[in-house]
Amino acid sequence: MSGTARLEIDGTVYELDTVVGSEGERAIDISKLRATTGYITLDDGYGNTGSCRSAITYIDGDAGILRYRGIPIENLAGRSSFVETAWLVIFGSLPTVEERDRFSALLGESAMIDEVMRKHFHAFPQTAPPMAILSAMINTLSAHDHGVIQIDDDSDMERAAAVLMSKVRTIAAAAYKASVGEPLVYPRYDLKYAENFLHMMFSVPYRNYEPTPEVAAALNLFLMLHADHEQNCSTSTVRMVGSSKANLFASCAAGVCALWGPLHGGANVAAVQMLQQIYDSGMPVSEFVTRVKNRDAGVKLMGFGHRVYKNFDPRSRILKKSVDEVLAQQDKTDSLLDIARELEAAALEDDYFIERKLYPNVDFYSGILLRAIGIPSEMFTVMFAIGRMPGWIANWKELNDDPKGRIYRPRQIYTGPTDQDWAPRGER
Ligand code: CMC
Repeated sequence: MSGTARLEIDGTVYELDTVVGSEGERAIDISKLRATTGYITLDDGYGNTGSCRSAITYIDGDAGILRYRGIPIENLAGRSSFVETAWLVIFGSLPTVEERDRFSALLGESAMIDEVMRKHFHAFPQTAPPMAILSAMINTLSAHDHGVIQIDDDSDMERAAAVLMSKVRTIAAAAYKASVGEPLVYPRYDLKYAENFLHMMFSVPYRNYEPTPEVAAALNLFLMLHADHEQNCSTSTVRMVGSSKANLFASCAAGVCALWGPLHGGANVAAVQMLQQIYDSGMPVSEFVTRVKNRDAGVKLMGFGHRVYKNFDPRSRILKKSVDEVLAQQDKTDSLLDIARELEAAALEDDYFIERKLYPNVDFYSGILLRAIGIPSEMFTVMFAIGRMPGWIANWKELNDDPKGRIYRPRQIYTGPTDQDWAPRGER
């Protein structure tokens, strides 16, 4: 369905096509605006820019809806595994038994990294941030496996997706092992995706780590809830890099870098640090909320607010419930969870947050869930990256499959000096 919008500039009326998505989302097609009017649109931070048409993920930020390929995340949570959800996100529908078995086998066979690559981990300083190692090593993968660079058909794509999803988990665990001075642990073919990761993270040569089913389920849930989130900063980065026809691995390595920032994936670490600081200082929650509202030295309520959700982030509701279950199952409590609950309650009653429609986002409870699983905070954003991999792969694939795909190349409004001459050094 499409229609027309009218734009009047200096007395001249221009007709612009409108585009309507399958959920009724509306857009004005401005792709010929500059050619016909000489104007471009200006949209700092891209809040109103539709950068692509995509059939992967749908979000209704006002209603708090998130669906992967049409399936609400609430329907997947607790029923679908991360691997099944990854297939759904990447290839467009729930896998058949045969597809599921084939993809699981590919994931299992792809888990090892080249022995030479294992040595790289000892070349990084022990204090290296794991996100730096992750992005570097994902890029390095394409140096070891040229086959994954050239994707010609569906079978190449399936293999590349499995290689990336499987090896990112091995790299993540190896980065952690190197940071704590422990030997890197080889993957096991007999373990499922989440269990294999936990094995590589926590097994040591003299003792195998066996997660409880509840811990493995919580990790599956965490990864599944992060699988995609339409055109966020890192996914847009993957598309931007991929639009130059850069390979899948280079594009996803760039996605890791974008995810690193504290306003994006890094917020899960920042949220737990914030809770820890409140706990350590003994500051009443009400006082912290006042500091946020007064914008004391840029203090923000980390894990709150979202560019798209102006209501509860549906992921945060599911994570909050899961945190309760995992802690109860382990017979544990977490003081940071108590503070988080108090903060949430205070913020949801406060006019500052109500007027700005600031609600808990995925990062408010995800760090507490990861703590309950035993993942150290330095690894939180890495965990987000493992989870987001299907979304990055799906978006790269969608872009790559589009025969009309063009390189992404936004315009700008130049605000610098006009034409100037070069001045000799002594005259400056
Ligand atoms: N604490 C206090 N005030 C806030 C917060 C917050 N967490 N988030 C937004 N605001 C205020 C902001 O100061 C602004 O106020 P005013 O209109 O008076 O200037 C208003 O709310 C609108 O915020 P904005 O910064 O224009 O919103 P944005 O869409 O540019 O930013 C955001 C979205 C997620 C970066 C921001 O809400 C934020 O910094 N939140 C904390 C970091 C965080 O939790 N990030 C994780 C996002 S979800 C996972 C992901 O996508 O990676």
